[in-house]
Amino acid sequence: MSHIVNVDLLALARDATYFANLPATNITAPAISLLAYHDDFYDVLGRDAKARKVWDLPWSAFHEAGVYNKKDNSLYIASNYHTLEDTINVTVVSLDSDDYPFHSMKFPDLAMANGGTNYYPPGASRDQTPPLQVYCDEGDFENYAKLVVVDPNTNTSKPLLTNFLGRNFSSPNDIRQHPITGDIWFTDADYGYFQHFRPQPTQPKQVYRFEPDTGIVQVVADGFVESNGFEFSPDLKTAYVTDTGSQQFGKVPTAPSTIYAFDVVDHKRLVNRRIFAWADTGFPDGIHCDTEGNVWSSCGDGLHVWNPQGILLGKVFIGEMSNNFAFAPGKVFVFSNTRLWVVENVKAQGREVCQDFGVGCH
Ligand SMILES: *[C@@H]1O[C@H](CO)[C@@H](O)[C@H](O)[C@H]1NC(C)=O
Ligand SMILES: *[C@@H]1O[C@H](CO)[C@@H](O)[C@H](O)[C@H]1NC(C)=O
Ligand SMILES: *[C@@H]1O[C@H](CO)[C@@H](O)[C@H](O)[C@H]1NC(C)=O
Ligand SMILES: *[C@@H]1O[C@H](CO)[C@@H](O)[C@H](O)[C@H]1NC(C)=O
Repeated sequence: MSHIVNVDLLALARDATYFANLPATNITAPAISLLAYHDDFYDVLGRDAKARKVWDLPWSAFHEAGVYNKKDNSLYIASNYHTLEDTINVTVVSLDSDDYPFHSMKFPDLAMANGGTNYYPPGASRDQTPPLQVYCDEGDFENYAKLVVVDPNTNTSKPLLTNFLGRNFSSPNDIRQHPITGDIWFTDADYGYFQHFRPQPTQPKQVYRFEPDTGIVQVVADGFVESNGFEFSPDLKTAYVTDTGSQQFGKVPTAPSTIYAFDVVDHKRLVNRRIFAWADTGFPDGIHCDTEGNVWSSCGDGLHVWNPQGILLGKVFIGEMSNNFAFAPGKVFVFSNTRLWVVENVKAQGREVCQDFGVGCH
């Protein structure tokens, strides 16, 4: 039994109201469904994929990051900004049981967590060392905007990079570690300022590369309205950067809601910037590839999935904005602030999850 609904692209091509009239999308409250825009979506998700809502809370516990820790079989998610006093939590969701219990944590050096990823410090063996985590900390009016390393197994944390050669960042947004060089690649954006907890920005929106073993830090790409999500293709030859420029203090629909692709040269530089995809609803925010090179990104009505050529294959539709999502073994979790959703029995494997944890790559 498939739970996937087909979208008839030729019917949609002729009728702009077709999508809103599908029973799966014509809903009065957020609800999850799997929508195929292309037959290949069945192969990506697998025929047994099933989607449901997990949590519906009175506060925004499920916003960003989404880092799977194998040791405690838990997913670490950043909550959304609330107040300067009630700083952003890390919401830890246990995958040990299918009701996914959670608790909220704060780490001492982490003021306003946003994007995060697994982190192997210089010299660590990927085979034996449980990975640490590294978060983008957007900072506030006192704390530096920075990168912070968290050890989820000891509840300790420490700053990794607090500035660019003495110059402050605005609000680092999302982050990946290059699996061969160990370099940290991250974006910087204005969202702390837009959310009223950071001063006015004084630098362009850029992508940075940082070497944790030497301290070398450099800008590898600029020219974004709001550089946001960052991800490598599984062959590490392509880097994807999402531009959420259409979300500033308010919505600016004429600004980018766009994923750009770059060639990665010598594992160190980005060249040949080109458009990869533009989202039909909202803006592509958090981004992850699966091990087949398909590109998944959180958008205005859920999670969108494109093949490596930039053709939209399908959506995990929730009827409201998602800022990020996470692959876990056999599962995909979708975050929409107050709500957490899961797709279970998923065939696709996350590039990082598969690579970092060796969880049965298909
Ligand atoms: C959605 O469903 C309602 C009631 O079932 C219907 O009246 C409406 O025309 C449908 N389409 C849209 C776009 O709301
Ligand atoms: C942090 O978590 C606590 C306890 O779960 C909750 O009461 C509080 O509202 C949360 N704050 C934020 C900013 O998520
Ligand atoms: C850089 O950030 C720190 C920590 O928030 C702040 O004290 C300092 O004034 C900032 N420097 C500039 C030039 O804005
Ligand atoms: C870390 O914090 C969590 C939640 O507060 C707690 O359950 C756990 O025992 C702590 N671990 C260590 C090593 O202190």
